[in-house]
Amino acid sequence: MRLELPKYSERFGAVLLHDLQKVYEMDGGFQPDEVFSNPFHVIRHIEADKLFQIEKDLAIIIPTKNERLRLLEGVLCGLPHDCLPIVLSNSDTEAIDRFRLECQTVENYCCYAKKKYLIMHQRSKEMAALVKSGGYTQLLDERGLVRNGKAEGMIAGIMLARLMGKKYVGFVDADNYFPGSVFEYVRIFSAGLSQSTSPYAMVRIQWHSKPKIEGEGLFFAKWGRVSRISNLLLNRLISQYTAFETDVVKTGNAGEHAMSMELALQMDYSAGFSIETHHFVNLMERFGGVKVLPEDIPAMQQGVYLYQIESRNPHLHDAKEDGHVEEMIHQSLAVIFHSPLCTEVLKTEILGELRRLHIIKKHELPQIPVKYGSLQSLDFAKAAKIWDPEKHGNAKL
Ligand code: GDP
Ligand code: CO
Repeated sequence: MRLELPKYSERFGAVLLHDLQKVYEMDGGFQPDEVFSNPFHVIRHIEADKLFQIEKDLAIIIPTKNERLRLLEGVLCGLPHDCLPIVLSNSDTEAIDRFRLECQTVENYCCYAKKKYLIMHQRSKEMAALVKSGGYTQLLDERGLVRNGKAEGMIAGIMLARLMGKKYVGFVDADNYFPGSVFEYVRIFSAGLSQSTSPYAMVRIQWHSKPKIEGEGLFFAKWGRVSRISNLLLNRLISQYTAFETDVVKTGNAGEHAMSMELALQMDYSAGFSIETHHFVNLMERFGGVKVLPEDIPAMQQGVYLYQIESRNPHLHDAKEDGHVEEMIHQSLAVIFHSPLCTEVLKTEILGELRRLHIIKKHELPQIPVKYGSLQSLDFAKAAKIWDPEKHGNAKL
């Protein structure tokens, strides 16, 4: 793959946020050209070997809830062969058992493709038992099952990836119409992660565009309402500390992202739609140097690198009703508002924004986000004792 070098980077304590990089060539060829040894060159060639090395150790978590089976199969077919797909489903199991249909689809496909896979239901007794045996009970509800929600499915997925000994995790939604874009996302993950000289790294994808039908034709929208506003306020949060205005954050709501396992285990998570914005807020809280926790010192010494990369493929996913845009804005801004880093000036700005959009009333405050602590507190050795991947797919330890 060939990627543009980031034009600039913004430092926030130990976090290095790189500006957006473009994909120049999805396939960069077998060998780099002579010209790449020139230090003034603006394109980085990432050798195929390096990509494959990372993909061997990369689990792709696919959260899914009642999506079309064709789309799920398309996503699997877009994944580079060496990545391990981990499907975390919260689909219906009553009346029509959609989860069973998903298991059959995934099993059939992977049997033909000779591809390793794992599939688990988020609300199954087996998933609950794993989480409980590791002592991470905050993820369980009053019935003792893993809570509902995409974020909760993602956290359960990270746990499985770690139990499988993977070194990296990536996230791809199940409702993607173009297998080719899934392929590009994963190649961006491996290319992005390969750039990091620190074991603590994150790659976030900025979609090239999201096609919509407008009037007679297609319109390729670049920014959604939610990402526009959450990027703006995340940038404001950074500039409150650096005293320089910035526009470095461009992926405040990126669902498609990947992390090194070291970083995935170190971070805290928030529930619901805020999880993506919270990634940024949490990186700044934990590694920004404003308040240092002893357990974060090793990561801070090595640095935490964040890469934002723009895909070439447009992103076309299943159209769901648009009603949750307000809810997404509310939850995304709430994590910024309730962060200990949020200054009074920024709080006033966030309140103004939420009131202007009629999301909260005059004397109301944004809701307090539900958070999950770092997976470092999970006892993986204990969970491993009851973990048998062969009951949930064909992957072996
Ligand atoms: P959007 O693309 O941000 O509008 O959100 P979607 O509704 O498409 O959700 C993103 C992905 O998460 C899709 O693959 C959904 O099927 C999946 N998803 C949504 N809710 C849940 C959930 O409760 N658990 C799991 N495991 N996946 C979910
Ligand atoms: Co979607």
